Amino acid sequence: MKENINVIISEEEIQKRVSEIADRISKDYNGEDISFICILKGGIMFMVDLAKKINSNIEFDFMEVSSYGNNMSSSGNIKINKDLQNPIEGKNIIIVEDIIDSGRTLNYLCRYLKEKKPASIKICTLLDKPERRVFDIKVDYTGFTIPDKFIVGYGLDYAERYRNLPYIAVIE
Ligand code: IMP
Ligand code: MG
Repeated sequence: MKENINVIISEEEIQKRVSEIADRISKDYNGEDISFICILKGGIMFMVDLAKKINSNIEFDFMEVSSYGNNMSSSGNIKINKDLQNPIEGKNIIIVEDIIDSGRTLNYLCRYLKEKKPASIKICTLLDKPERRVFDIKVDYTGFTIPDKFIVGYGLDYAERYRNLPYIAVIE
């Protein structure tokens, strides 16, 4: 069966919002070094576009965790598939995520990363679905708040498809 794809956030809107967030981060950090921790695979497009527009030196590191299988509902478990490469003690961390849904992933990751004693830790997400929140998460930078629909594109997948779309779409 072929899914229906309806664009809800265009490429232009994404790029404009990414620039606005980058400007805020540049102001907040005022030239201080930043370490991005990109949550694979969904956060990759956002991290790359965002990093290019920020006026600080940015280290990149990556984690991959799974909380979803190849379906549209959370399995409830978090497993680290890929861990950090570099120590983060004393660093200014920004977790770069594609979307916050239940908050389960970030609740787990924040606790995990705080134990490694970074100087600071902030959360930057492109998308937020607050209606579905189970864990209370303090988000520092949000691109767009969206309703409870399953979406794809700009890093986000449905069964590993659609990640390379330059826009965000609802899949039905
Ligand atoms: P949480 O742990 O429930 O907050 O889920 C976060 C993760 O679920 C995200 O990083 C995504 O990988 C995935 N996810 C949540 N909602 C969607 C969606 O609408 N489309 C694609 N992936 C999603
Ligand atoms: Mg993700």
